[in-house]
Amino acid sequence: MRRLLVVIPIAAAALVLAACGTEDVSVTNASDEEGAVLFADHCAGCHTLSAAGTQGSGNRSLRAQGPNLDQREISYDDALYAIHNGGASGAVMPQNIVVGDDAEKVAQFINDYSGTQVEDSPRPSADGSGSGSG
Ligand code: HEC
Repeated sequence: MRRLLVVIPIAAAALVLAACGTEDVSVTNASDEEGAVLFADHCAGCHTLSAAGTQGSGNRSLRAQGPNLDQREISYDDALYAIHNGGASGAVMPQNIVVGDDAEKVAQFINDYSGTQVEDSPRPSADGSGSGSG
């Protein structure tokens, strides 16, 4: 008869849980700090943005996960639009998670800190009207 060695990784699980924090805000612009903290508090669950120390886009098995904002450059206006309307489509992201001044601070923070990991992507030429000469 064989013995089964059962290892229950409680210790490992505890370590992982202890590592879950969103207080790791790292902004150089002091006026963006509030926005970063608000982002960490309200948006971290679904969006990754390293300046706010959030890793919310990691779990791709959850449908609600939003885009990684390190990899997208979002303007102030687009960020405010997303906050008011619940993302671009309004389908998954809740609307008005933050409002008023808070929404503006978060939008400013996103404007300043999103897209830090955008790489120079080969841009297709803006107008597709080629001459056809090859
Ligand atoms: C429940 C998950 C969830 C939460 C919480 C959430 N989002 Fe989103 N967000 C999404 C999803 C999913 C999308 C993509 C689908 C869409 O745009 O409708 C998205 C899209 C966006 C976009 C547009 C990205 C683009 O490429 O156009 C922005 C900006 C954004 N979210 C900002 C925020 C901010 C700021 C907060 C906090 C106030 C927040 N989100 C909270 C799920 C979430």
